[in-house]
Amino acid sequence: MLFTQIALAAATFVAGSFAAADEFYIKTTGSSLSSHNDLFLEAYHTGAGLADAVLSTDNINAGHFYLNDTELRMDVGDVDYAYGFELAADSGYAAWQFVTINVQTAQSGFSVESNGTVAFNGTEFGGWLACDWWHGAPQLFWKIEFDSVDIPSSCSSVTLVTQAISS
Ligand SMILES: *[C@@H]1O[C@H](CO)[C@@H](O)[C@H](O)[C@H]1NC(C)=O
Ligand SMILES: *[C@@H]1O[C@H](CO)[C@@H](O)[C@H](O)[C@H]1NC(C)=O
Ligand SMILES: *[C@@H]1O[C@H](CO)[C@@H](O)[C@H](O)[C@H]1NC(C)=O
Repeated sequence: MLFTQIALAAATFVAGSFAAADEFYIKTTGSSLSSHNDLFLEAYHTGAGLADAVLSTDNINAGHFYLNDTELRMDVGDVDYAYGFELAADSGYAAWQFVTINVQTAQSGFSVESNGTVAFNGTEFGGWLACDWWHGAPQLFWKIEFDSVDIPSSCSSVTLVTQAISS
């Protein structure tokens, strides 16, 4: 009981001081597969403080994202536990890799361009990929520019755009 009260009080306080951030949904566009367009990015829980970036047709569980300098973060109501985007490191000569959203960690290099696209500045970055994958929903990956292979037909290149959250 006491713990709940403390947690509630803290959450209320933090949520109040957190409302000012410019937050947005992230949506997919530009795919050659219509099933990969107009999807909202959400965090799919994979372990304590760990999530995969998956894509959904509705915004019920969509993440509320914001930029902190060049870190792309997800608002979970408590700034001390903000989740940040991480592109899994290029390894094993793979042609694409995971995009994860993890607690209290964030990678620099993200930006939102003037036309609303979400960009990442990295030498190996070759764009975003949506693939029908093991969470039973399209999942977001990043393409490694130097390793070009034919992508499976269940994957397609996508552009990520921001959509303002009307409150
Ligand atoms: C932005 O990042 C700074 C430095 O890591 C951190 O102190 C601050 O709490 C962050 N703000 C938000 C709203 O994420
Ligand atoms: C948006 O702007 C970026 C950076 O200027 C550019 O690379 C990209 O092609 C533009 N995308 C669209 C859909 O216009
Ligand atoms: C990308 O990062 C490099 C190295 O940090 C920097 O020199 C360059 O100006 C950045 N480019 C953009 C478009 O932010």
